[in-house]
Amino acid sequence: MKRIITYGTYDVLHYGHVNLLKRAHALGDYLIVGLSTDEFNKIKNKESYYTYEQRKMILEACRYVDLVIPENSWEQKIEDIKQYKADIFVMGDDWVGKFDFLKAYCEVIYLPRTQNVSSTKTKEYLKSNKQKGKK
Ligand code: CTP
Repeated sequence: MKRIITYGTYDVLHYGHVNLLKRAHALGDYLIVGLSTDEFNKIKNKESYYTYEQRKMILEACRYVDLVIPENSWEQKIEDIKQYKADIFVMGDDWVGKFDFLKAYCEVIYLPRTQNVSSTKTKEYLKSNKQKGKK
């Protein structure tokens, strides 16, 4: 059984996320997502629209995701890889090079991001339409 692990905030889940999760799952048999907690998002200067529990519920409904665990800190990855026996660490290529230090523990793969979509972009679009008085 090949286990894959990946991390992120996954707010207002979009097709770029699903593309990433689908390709990550296809690299093995079991996909674990380290989902940033609301507290950790604050440390990253991110604010999510959905709470951790809501984002977790949505990710768990995705057929490519087998397990969601909390991401509380930058430092936990090595311990998670050991604990969950991950064979491959996957991130989108916006993170290229940043996690190469994990190559001492498992394979590290950066997948190309899907163009022109992000949680931030979606939220900004919805916000600007709200300001214009649209639904
Ligand atoms: N991702 C992707 N393609 C996108 C957006 C995200 O492949 N268009 C990937 C990221 O590279 C990461 C994972 O999805 O591996 C979770 O990313 P996250 O930061 O939660 O999503 P974003 O939409 O980039 O969020 P934000 O706009 O808040 O940065």
